[in-house]
Amino acid sequence: ADVYPFTGPHQAGITTPAQDRLHFATFDLITDSREAVVALLKAWTVAAERMTQGLPAGEFEPGAGPYDAPPDDTGEAEGLNASGLTITFGFGPSLFTDSDGADRYGLAARRPALLADLPHFPADALEDARCGGDLAIQACADDPQVAVHAIRNLARIAFGTASVRWSQLGYGRTSSTSTAQTTPRNLFGFKDGTANIKSEETDAVTSQVWVSADDSAADDAAGDRATDSSWLTGGSYLVARRIRMTIETWDRSSLREQETVVGRTKHTGAPLSGGTELTEPNFAKAGRGDLPLIDPTSHVALAHPTNNNGARMLRRGYNYTDGSDGLGRLDAGLFFIAFVRNPATQYIPMQNTLARDDLMSEYLRHTGSGLWAVPPGIPAGAPLGGADGA
Ligand code: HEM
Repeated sequence: ADVYPFTGPHQAGITTPAQDRLHFATFDLITDSREAVVALLKAWTVAAERMTQGLPAGEFEPGAGPYDAPPDDTGEAEGLNASGLTITFGFGPSLFTDSDGADRYGLAARRPALLADLPHFPADALEDARCGGDLAIQACADDPQVAVHAIRNLARIAFGTASVRWSQLGYGRTSSTSTAQTTPRNLFGFKDGTANIKSEETDAVTSQVWVSADDSAADDAAGDRATDSSWLTGGSYLVARRIRMTIETWDRSSLREQETVVGRTKHTGAPLSGGTELTEPNFAKAGRGDLPLIDPTSHVALAHPTNNNGARMLRRGYNYTDGSDGLGRLDAGLFFIAFVRNPATQYIPMQNTLARDDLMSEYLRHTGSGLWAVPPGIPAGAPLGGADGA
């Protein structure tokens, strides 16, 4: 089974080949103490590294440890292997400044100007209990029990310092992040991830995913505050959106309608302009009556880089089904996760366009949201966020 290194120049769980399962959780800090926050990040670093290597969260072997204390690992991953577990940490805008702009932990001057709450998008139906969080943790693994075990133990370690704000389970990765992976399907039944940034596209990863030293300097110069966000160099931004899909309506729509909405065929994933799955779409190619074969308001037409000043993103989302809604409809959809170098140029304009014009938006409801800055990788032996926690 796969074991990915926890340390390195970038955090694991971004260009790592997308695993099958997700447990994503966000946390609110419930302490006024900067020292407590630093201690939490240090403790999380140690436990996360251990769990990604297939070890228990705490130092004791299963069954060992003091009999009169709670076990330092909850136990349900005993006997399971690492299952490709990656644990990726993000810092939300509210870690740095609270809603009144107050500097909570002496970190306000470290907040990148780009790390701000996402704007309200057309048709947003966000539920507060599924939005935001001072800290976010993405745990991905090929075994759901391993992913849940990771979040559960990190939440347990945080007791008294941070509490879970919301969390989301996902299955059936809806993207591939390596050319070695086949393209999976989302709950609309379409291949998802065809045009995604793949780890092998090293130029695209550099230009679209990782924050550069120049970006950090530009960010600090752009804000009206004196900031030092150099800590984010080599990191990225994580956008999460819980997008409910109105499955029942979709399932009653014709195949023609479904393919028009996406701009690709359902079976092979080829663009409607022809070719095979990996053929570049030709948005100018006309069919009968000189109408473009790919509807200009289809999802692919509007999300394609040619319509977005060349912007792409590394998508790493998951399907979710949270039972049904009490009205006989599945509460199902896509937990969208994207990593971008710059949310202001790569995510926000695209989301505005899609929310306004995308044919697909009729079948979608965005119910959860958040933006986190994902610090770069952790050198071996160093704690998350640097020794002073910033
Ligand atoms: C492409 C589905 C939400 C951005 C695609 C494709 C499908 C799809 C089937 C074509 C295959 C591929 O290239 O991956 C969905 C579904 C969504 C959703 C079902 C919601 C439930 C979003 C959102 C964004 C987005 C919110 C960004 C704001 C993209 C991008 C592409 C894409 C950038 C690649 C376009 C290209 O380069 O051709 N999506 N998507 N999608 N989607 Fe989505």
